[in-house]
Amino acid sequence: MPRLILVSNRLPVTIAKKDGTDGVEVVASAGGLATGLRGHHDKSDSLWVGWPGETAGLDEAQKKELETKLDELRCLSVHLSAEEVERYYDGFSNAILWPLFHYLIDRVPMDSSDWEVYQRVNQRFADRVAEVAEPGDMVWVQDYQLCLVPGMLRAKLPELKIGFFLHIPFPSSEIFRTLPWRDEILRGIAGSDLVGFHTFGYQRHFASSLLRLLGVEVNVDHARFQGREVRLGVFPMGIDAKAFDEQARGPAMQKRIDEVRTPHEGGGKAPRMLLGVDRLDYTKGLPRRLLSFERLLASSPELRGEVRLVQVAVPSRMHVDAYARYRKDVEELVGRINGTFGTVSWTPVQYIFRSLAQEELIALYRAADVMVVTPLRDGMNLVAKEFVASRPDEDGVLLLSELAGAAAELGEAVQVNPYDVDGVAQSMKAALEMSTEERRHRMQGLRRRVFAYDVHRWAAAFIDCLTQTPEPVVRDSSPPQGEPELIRDLANAQRERPAQPLVLLLDYDGTLVPFARAPELARPDTELIVLLSKLAARPNTQVHLVSGRPRDSLEQWLGALPIGLHAEHGFWSRLTPEQPWRAMGDENPEWKVQARSVLDAFVARTPGSRVEEKTASLAWHYRAADPEFGAIQAQELRLHLSNTFSNAPVEVLAGDKIVEVRPYGINKGVSVRLVLEASPADARIFAMGDDRTDEDMFAALPEGPGRSLSVHVGPHPSRATYRLLTWQSARTVLRSLT
Ligand code: UDP
Ligand code: G6P
Repeated sequence: MPRLILVSNRLPVTIAKKDGTDGVEVVASAGGLATGLRGHHDKSDSLWVGWPGETAGLDEAQKKELETKLDELRCLSVHLSAEEVERYYDGFSNAILWPLFHYLIDRVPMDSSDWEVYQRVNQRFADRVAEVAEPGDMVWVQDYQLCLVPGMLRAKLPELKIGFFLHIPFPSSEIFRTLPWRDEILRGIAGSDLVGFHTFGYQRHFASSLLRLLGVEVNVDHARFQGREVRLGVFPMGIDAKAFDEQARGPAMQKRIDEVRTPHEGGGKAPRMLLGVDRLDYTKGLPRRLLSFERLLASSPELRGEVRLVQVAVPSRMHVDAYARYRKDVEELVGRINGTFGTVSWTPVQYIFRSLAQEELIALYRAADVMVVTPLRDGMNLVAKEFVASRPDEDGVLLLSELAGAAAELGEAVQVNPYDVDGVAQSMKAALEMSTEERRHRMQGLRRRVFAYDVHRWAAAFIDCLTQTPEPVVRDSSPPQGEPELIRDLANAQRERPAQPLVLLLDYDGTLVPFARAPELARPDTELIVLLSKLAARPNTQVHLVSGRPRDSLEQWLGALPIGLHAEHGFWSRLTPEQPWRAMGDENPEWKVQARSVLDAFVARTPGSRVEEKTASLAWHYRAADPEFGAIQAQELRLHLSNTFSNAPVEVLAGDKIVEVRPYGINKGVSVRLVLEASPADARIFAMGDDRTDEDMFAALPEGPGRSLSVHVGPHPSRATYRLLTWQSARTVLRSLT
C-alpha cells in the first residue's frame, strides 16, 4: 500500500497555551475537515502536513515541546508568520474564497492585495510536501486554502499521485467567474490526478468552469489538462458514526441527557428543545434561524415557556471583520428575542459561545427534540450526520437546509429553504408536532445512510479511486516530450547528416498561431512571417503550410513567401509560388447546396456559431458559441449530416470547435503524398499539427529510420512521436532550426 500524505491548512490539532503554566498543549481542531479526517489518520500510517495554529508568541522551549507532540501524532508543521495568517488565511482564504464559493459575493471585498501571499504560502506547503514525499507516495490535498498546491507539486514532481478534495461547495461558473484569479485557481486544482467533491452539483460546476474559463476539454467525470487526465468524482463525506453511536449509548450518557433536559430555572416540566450547533459563520444562517424561532413564538403563543432553542456557536475566524460583525448581529438578535419573550422562569434562546467537548455535544444531540441545521450554503454539514448517529433511540427530528450538501443524501430529513423564514418557522412547528411513528421511520432511514457511508468508507473510496488513476505522465499514445528534448534531437539529426534535405509540413491554426474567436482574426503576425521566411531561406529546406483554410486566405496572407501552400485540408495545393493552384477533386459538388441549408439552420439555432464556405467543403464553427450548448449542437449536427449524406461521397469530420463536411478521400495525407513526389527521396520530413485533421498528415509520412518526425501540439492523444503543449513552443522549436 503506498504511503499517504495528507495536506490541509489546519492540522487536526491546534496549539494552545496550558492554563497557568509556561507549557503548551494541543487541542482538537474544530470544523468538518479536521473531525472527519482525524479518524482515518489515527487508523492508518499517513503523514499530515499542515498549520498548527498561531505559534508566533512561543519561545524556543515551547516550540520544541510542540514539535515533539506533533511528531507523536505524525503531523508535520508549516508555520505561518503573523502577516501570512492575516493575508493568506484571514485575507484571501476566508475573506475572498470562502464567501465567493458559498455564493455570498457581496461579502467579498472590493479590492485585495492578498493573492500574492496566498500563492507564496501555497508554495510553502508544496515545498514542505516535496521535502518528505518519496517515490510511490500519494498526496491528498484538502480544501480551498490550498488550491494551488496540486499544480505546484505537479511542477516539482511530475510523477507524484495527487488527489484534491474540496470540502466546501464549488459554485456555479457564473459566480466563480467573478474571481479575478479564477484561471490560476482552476489550473492549480487541475494539477491533481483526482478531484473530489461532496455532490454531483459541485462537480458539474467545476467541470463547467474548466470548459468555459480555460477551454479545457471536459466530460462529466474527467478532463484533459496539459496532456494529462484529471478525474473528477463525487465522494460525500461521512462521520465516524459508530463512535458517536457508542458514546451516545454509554453508561454515563443518560445522566448527562437528564441534566441537559432538566431546566435549571423553576423546575417543572422541561421545555422541549430545538438545537443548533455551528461554527459562528455567516454561511450557517443563524440570524434567519433565530427570526424563524421568533416567528414561531409570535404565531404560537401556546409554545411560549414550552420550547427553547439551544444554540451552540463555536468561535471561528474572529479576526475577519465579517465574522466579528456577524457575532454582533447574532447576539443582538438573541438578546431581542429573550427580551421580548423571556420570563423569570424561561429563557427562549440559550446561547453558548464556545467550543464543546465531544461528549457534551453528544448529550445535546441526544437530548434534542429537533435538530435545526439551516445553513444558507454548506459544502456538506457533518453536524446533521453526527446528530443522526447520536440517536440510537431512533427519535428526534432533523430539520435540514436543502442548500447543504448533506441534503442530497439525507432525504428523510425535513428539508427546508433557509431563506424562507416563515417556511422554516412552520417546519419547526410541524417537527415539534410530528408523531412518534413518523419520527422513528424517518430516523431509521437517516441512520441507515449515515452508518453505511461513514468517514472510513469515504476516505477509502477516494484513496482507492486515486490509486486506480492511471500513472501520471506516460498516459498518451505519444510521450509528452518538451521543447528541450525535441530541439536536442533535431540538432543531433542535423549533426549526423548535415547534407540531408529537410521538408517541413506545418499546420497553421493552433500550431503556428493561437485560435481566434473568428477565423479571419487569426492573421499571421510579423514574427511568424519572419520565421517562415528564415526557414524557407535555410539551405536545403522546403517549407509547406498544410491547412484547412480556404486558398484565398492563404494566398492573401502568405502568397508572397517562397513556400508551398495547401488549402482546404489537401483539396488545393500550390507547391511553389510560381506554380498554379491544383484542385484534387470536383469544385462545387452537388451535395453542397443541401449541406449549406442544414448548417444555416444550425447557425440560426446556435448564437455565436457561423458557416465557412470553401470550394469543396463547408465548415460550421462554434468557438464563439456557449461552449456546452455548442458541443451538444455539434454532436447533433454530426449525426444529422451523417444520416442525410450517408449515400453521398462526403466525410463528416469533427475538429477543434468545428464540424466539417468535405469530399470523401481528400485529406491532409493527399498533400503529403504530393509533396513527397516533388522532394528528394532521402529528405527528412518534419510535420507539426494540433488536431484530428493533422493525424491524416502524420499517417501519410514515410517510415524508416531518420525519414520523418512528427509533433502534436496540444493535449490530445496523437500518433505523433513528439508532443509540445503550445503554439509558442512550436515556434521556439522552429526558431531553433533557423
Ligand atoms: N464541533 C466541534 N466543537 C464544537 C462544536 C462542533 O469540534 O464545539 C465539530 C462538529 O462535531 C463537527 C464540526 O465541528 O464535526 C463541524 O463540521 P460541519 O461540517 O458541520 O461544519 P464546518 O464547521 O466544517 O463548516
Ligand atoms: C470548514 C472548512 C475547513 C476548515 C473548517 C474550520 O470545515 O472546510 O477547511 O478547517 O471549516 O475553519 P478554520 O478556519 O478554523 O480552519
